[in-house]
Amino acid sequence: MNSPVMQGLTLNTPSYVKNARLVAWVADMAALCKPDTVVWCDGSDEEYARLCEQLVSAGTMKRLNPVKRPNSFLACSDPSDVARVEDRTFICSEKQEDAGPTNNWKAPAEMRATLQPLFDGCMRGRTMYVVPFSMGPLGSPIAHIGIELSDSAYVAVNMKLMTRMGKAVFDVLGTDGEFVPCVHTVGAPLAAGETDKTAWPCNPTTKYIVHYPETREIWSYGSGYGGNALLGKKCFALRIASTMGKRQGWLAEHMLILGVTSPEGKKYHVAAAFPSACGKTNFAMLIPPKGFEGWKVTTIGDDIAWIKPRADGRLYAINPEAGYFGVAPGTNTLTNPNCMASLDRDVIFTNVALTDDGDVWWEGMSDAPAHAIDWQGKDWTPQIAKETGAKAAHPNARFTVAATNNPALDPAWDDPSGVPIDAFIFGGRRSTTVPLVTEARNWTEGVYMAATMGSETTAAAFGAQGVVRRDPFAMLPFAGYNMSDYFQHWLDLGAKLQGQGATLPGIFCVNWFRKDEAGKFVWPGFGENMRVLKWMIDRLEGRGQGTEHAFGVSPRYEDIHWDGLNFSTEQYKTVTHIDKAAWTQELALHSELFTQLAHHLPKELEETKTKIEKRLAA
Ligand code: OXD
Ligand code: MN
Repeated sequence: MNSPVMQGLTLNTPSYVKNARLVAWVADMAALCKPDTVVWCDGSDEEYARLCEQLVSAGTMKRLNPVKRPNSFLACSDPSDVARVEDRTFICSEKQEDAGPTNNWKAPAEMRATLQPLFDGCMRGRTMYVVPFSMGPLGSPIAHIGIELSDSAYVAVNMKLMTRMGKAVFDVLGTDGEFVPCVHTVGAPLAAGETDKTAWPCNPTTKYIVHYPETREIWSYGSGYGGNALLGKKCFALRIASTMGKRQGWLAEHMLILGVTSPEGKKYHVAAAFPSACGKTNFAMLIPPKGFEGWKVTTIGDDIAWIKPRADGRLYAINPEAGYFGVAPGTNTLTNPNCMASLDRDVIFTNVALTDDGDVWWEGMSDAPAHAIDWQGKDWTPQIAKETGAKAAHPNARFTVAATNNPALDPAWDDPSGVPIDAFIFGGRRSTTVPLVTEARNWTEGVYMAATMGSETTAAAFGAQGVVRRDPFAMLPFAGYNMSDYFQHWLDLGAKLQGQGATLPGIFCVNWFRKDEAGKFVWPGFGENMRVLKWMIDRLEGRGQGTEHAFGVSPRYEDIHWDGLNFSTEQYKTVTHIDKAAWTQELALHSELFTQLAHHLPKELEETKTKIEKRLAA
């Protein structure tokens, strides 16, 4: 393919890029964004090393002590650019009702008119990286391709860890393959001769994370952080992919995927949805506790699942990502030993603290160091923390690491066919009301559980503490279309597969977060969650016992495998009892949610609520 030259800018299109639509799009975007140079990423280790060196020279990243943390880096962001910006995230479908009441919406033409002048010249003085990536194993029938154009080398190196990124993507794309175009800019153009005054260029006042579902485009302006900038993750793999799934009959979900192997060697696969900050990565990397000798849990994915039905009527899942972008604070060898082992080397840390020996530290990792440099570059000591409340690491500090670093990685994690899903789990953070585990009696009841799940807000994340934020399917910030249509899609898919004679996966609702009267968590969590997983497997095998109640089936004390743990019947009662008054209130909150989502709300969900109310009253 020839390499057009425009306004003195060479597009540098490699000869192996044969996709005419891609070449034309890159030319158009280069003409709009006006970078100084265009670099096509090949995904090689040499390129990664070169870009990391470049980021170190620019001051964006620091190389960590190579003895303590080989080939690892620390980046610290601008204090104004530390998290996803949900209020600046838009679904620009032609009709507002297709975005639904839970998304910010603007008409595509209006949004394009807003973005056009912002993107005009937005990459001046910078390099435009062309980042080819596959979400899912290359060439898998479940995978899809994206191309991200970004003026951030930090994005390019993170995408190398987080996705299957590089040259091989162009082979899969061929001459006329489909890709999702993703344009990202930090929104900080440089005038001629000007250099960056900050090591984390971004736009402090203007941010737009924009999705056009009908044309499957992503445009991101002004932020260099996480889900705002690594467009394969939340933007593509959830918001755009969920709309693709709706049209094409599959599911793009905010779910981890894990494998559980029994001592007899039988393997099960579970996909689990939890809102952000509910310990998804910990669950995905669970180590079976004492009393579970011979059991094995392996990770397929820690955040997102793409799930497609096959001709046999079963649902097969892949992890579209190839790395983890996890929250560092709170991660330690007790909560997640596998994760800590994953972080031994080849990691990009963002917004954690730098210790005096060139390593990293965050709250909850280990005993605090006597001194560190905090994520904002200031001196930090335990005394300063005590006096001012200063955090060494930002609460949303992250690690980026390739999945291949995970010692518990499932051998099938990269299998293009995906893994068959046996059960779905939905969970939130609830200090009261929702019991440890409940199995839905049927698909519709499971969809109801997922649609009404909620999580108590934590002070750090959302302001007022303890308020229940409804987060249907843990997809509130990630569904790319009307939430009620999304519920309908789940119901339709279940009905279709059942119509084909398929046995649908079981659906379970969990809550690890019930507290006692003293406000302490009662369920020990982490590895002990294996006990709940085992009960689910027993149920799938038709041998698990339980007790039926208003909204499903839960295990009695004697139905759980307790070997290796002292957990009294009293404690069990605290995490499982169903309080009629609390549930009456809970159902009133479900009604509020259903009123908000009334447009297109499936009637089956209203009917299920009525049935639960009747059973509760009986
Ligand atoms: C995440 C999130 O970063 O859900 O995965 O916010
Ligand atoms: Mn997530």
